[in-house]
Amino acid sequence: MKLFLDSANLDEIREFSQTGLVDGVTTNPSLIAKSGRDIKEVIAEICKIVSGPVSAEVTATNEADMMKEAEVLRKIAPHVAIKVPLTMDGLKTCKNLSSEGTMVNVTLCFSANQALLAAKAGATFISPFIGRLDDISQDGMQLIADILQIYTSYPHFQTQVLAASIRGPQHVLDAARLGCDVSTLPGSVFRQLYQHPLTDKGLEAFLSDWKKTGQSIV
Ligand code: E4P
Repeated sequence: MKLFLDSANLDEIREFSQTGLVDGVTTNPSLIAKSGRDIKEVIAEICKIVSGPVSAEVTATNEADMMKEAEVLRKIAPHVAIKVPLTMDGLKTCKNLSSEGTMVNVTLCFSANQALLAAKAGATFISPFIGRLDDISQDGMQLIADILQIYTSYPHFQTQVLAASIRGPQHVLDAARLGCDVSTLPGSVFRQLYQHPLTDKGLEAFLSDWKKTGQSIV
């Protein structure tokens, strides 16, 4: 499963990219607002740090204006994926952009039927929001399972399922168990994936015993 960072925080993106484990980045208007920076500058800087897909979201709500914004955003770098909302205009924009060879991430997906339409519109990624469904007592992971089942039944669909709105490591684990293509994680969840108290405790004991030997490897 590919791991994307769900962030517009350049320090965080730089830090985690150094692991070599970050396959891409997703942003949204709220994350850009939080960065306090100009969207074009932030996306350009992220694209210099990460070589995989970098999602930049349009903010227009009609097809013509979405296309105008997409023109600007896709010129930033060839690995920019244009993010469009799952609306009629978003789907039309997705169809246009994907037919021109531009990567498209269809976002704010909350039903399997929406995901079916996004695949038919040629989306590169469909982003079901797991956490926001769980927040209203619906089963976000079941949506991922349903979409994967549908896409597997129609092998000509090339759309990758990108688990979004991830709240913790359990979401990542469950998405991986289902064979989800991508999970996009806030930095805090990325950190939680490798941290374990028993790893810390075990390492402390090993280092303490090693010190007693007086040895040095190099
Ligand atoms: C995905 O592309 C979205 O930016 C993101 O996962 C939304 O997550 P949230 O529900 O935590 O805002």
